[in-house]
Amino acid sequence: MVFQNFTNSAVLILCVLVLATRNYQACAFRNPESWTSNYRLWDNIKPDNIKPESPVKGLCADSIIAAGYKCNEFEVTTNGGYILSIQRIPKGRSEISSNASKEPVIIQHGLMMDGSSWFMNSPEQNVPMILADNGFDVWVTNGRGTKFSRKHTTLDSSNQQYWDWTWDDLVSDEMPAIVDFVFNQTGGQKINYLGHSLGTMIALISLSEGKWVNKVKSVALLSPVAYLSHMTTTLGIMSANYVSGKKFTPKDITEFDPKGQKVLSFVRGICSRSGINCNDLFTAATGDNCCLDEAAFVRFLKVEPQPTSKKTMFHLAYTFLYDDLTKFDYGRREINQEHYGQPEPPIYNLSNIPNDVPIFMSYGGRDALSDVVDVQRLLTLHFQNHDKTKLKVQFIQGYAHADYMMAVNAKDLVYKQVASFFKQKF
Ligand SMILES: *[C@@H]1O[C@H](CO)[C@@H](O)[C@H](O)[C@H]1NC(C)=O
Ligand SMILES: *[C@@H]1O[C@H](CO)[C@@H](O)[C@H](O)[C@H]1NC(C)=O
Ligand SMILES: *[C@@H]1O[C@H](CO)[C@@H](O)[C@H](O)[C@H]1NC(C)=O
Repeated sequence: MVFQNFTNSAVLILCVLVLATRNYQACAFRNPESWTSNYRLWDNIKPDNIKPESPVKGLCADSIIAAGYKCNEFEVTTNGGYILSIQRIPKGRSEISSNASKEPVIIQHGLMMDGSSWFMNSPEQNVPMILADNGFDVWVTNGRGTKFSRKHTTLDSSNQQYWDWTWDDLVSDEMPAIVDFVFNQTGGQKINYLGHSLGTMIALISLSEGKWVNKVKSVALLSPVAYLSHMTTTLGIMSANYVSGKKFTPKDITEFDPKGQKVLSFVRGICSRSGINCNDLFTAATGDNCCLDEAAFVRFLKVEPQPTSKKTMFHLAYTFLYDDLTKFDYGRREINQEHYGQPEPPIYNLSNIPNDVPIFMSYGGRDALSDVVDVQRLLTLHFQNHDKTKLKVQFIQGYAHADYMMAVNAKDLVYKQVASFFKQKF
């Protein structure tokens, strides 16, 4: 392999976003200076340059209140001790008072994103505010390890053990705590769930495992991710191939910070030697997004991408390499036996998703992560018997992965459909 000298290479399916986004920016600015040499461009990629500009005040203060919305900060503690920040937008912008009890919506971001990633566009165009204006009681999550959710009851985020998780744990520990919290705060009402990317996988697995099925009203999945074997994201494929030759070891229980020096130098290394077109890495990583607004994208670069666990990156690579969606593979039969009571990691059987859960899915024709073939496999394998009146599938030919978070026309194409799906009485 071209990069076998790099030990820190967990995977960088999305760490490429860093570079990618830097390049995209250069591209968007059409600044010939930054094109003179790739190295010139790499020189700008220093963690200090891409740290957020303002001190952390919380997502309500950063992104929501200034836009004229009421917003409350809460903390949710999981059984595993992770303390998560969660924001509530209880009502629409021009709503004076609202006595009517509203339906809650949980909005769950994808891998290496956090709650902020939904607020890059104007209030008229971003999905949490659109849903609030449509009469929903909106709850925005921030996954463990991201900027606003780095506390724990006993561990510091600098402890190795803090990072010992993958989406298996988000399903078993994190999302149940969030759902219970919102369910409780809203007086036991059924919840609507909106997820993007990894946020869709969390919902699909949870429902197949029978978790929070009786607390959910309907589910909307944007860029659904379950199978990944057709993913076309160039660096994803290369890095997954690389990981396939490596065993996960306890020293891999650590933070994966896509803005960290180690990851950056790894990506630099790949770009300088592998023949990948690093001038358009954002596209290579997420697909050819049709409709991003330049200003929104620049805001995006200030806050994303966010850290995750290296274990999650391994899990992602395995999911790409294997055909099936399984729990984390420890790579050795006896260690799997210890964790699961069987030598192979258990397969998640998505056919166990109850056929009567209302589900809206939207997938794009140019998505490099949530590939059309993989989404169709998900539908064919597991949704044939789904109640037809409770399954709505939308395909948008021109959309790629990031369009679902912040395309300028997502309001009309996608978010309005989500709002009306959530309003349906099933
Ligand atoms: C909402 O509650 C307030 C105080 O309880 C009351 O004065 C007001 O009339 C109520 N509004 C509606 C629309 O029911
Ligand atoms: C919320 O939690 C409190 C305290 O744990 C409990 O008394 C209450 O019944 C719960 N409410 C709902 C709707 O579950
Ligand atoms: C998955 O679940 C479905 C329905 O519950 C069942 O028919 C099927 O045999 C299961 N598949 C596997 C591989 O266990």
